[in-house]
Amino acid sequence: MTLMHTTLAAVALSALALPLAARADPCKVEISGNDVLQYDKRELAVPATCKEITVTLHHSGTQPREAMGHDWVLVKTADLAAVDQAGLSAGLANNYVAPGDKRVLAHTKVIGGGETTSVTFSASLLSRGGDYSYLCTFPGHSALMHGKFRFG
Ligand code: CO
Repeated sequence: MTLMHTTLAAVALSALALPLAARADPCKVEISGNDVLQYDKRELAVPATCKEITVTLHHSGTQPREAMGHDWVLVKTADLAAVDQAGLSAGLANNYVAPGDKRVLAHTKVIGGGETTSVTFSASLLSRGGDYSYLCTFPGHSALMHGKFRFG
């Protein structure tokens, strides 16, 4: 193969790769937590055209859920502190989310190192451009483990 053919092949391949990437579902997003109280993203965003949203949470660490558990809890930013506080008394058996807490818009369970979980929820709970945040409700984590969730 000549150099020119190789270059043309590379251009053709990158042209193919673009539509494939664009086809990835923007209503499905992913985030990871590690063993040192960090999510790998400060912000998640989905378009307001999504009817249903799926958030997948990975735990990239090795610590067990009892010691370094992480969850992903979606709230209005104004409710973050109160939801975190209510989750504290709910305990690990309730994934540190108070049962029936209407301020919780969506949440995963608490996972430990090497685990993955996800939550799928209706976007009808959200308003375009609303001020939303996510947090980890494991005791003591939310000060570092929180971020903005943008819808629209
Ligand atoms: Co955590």
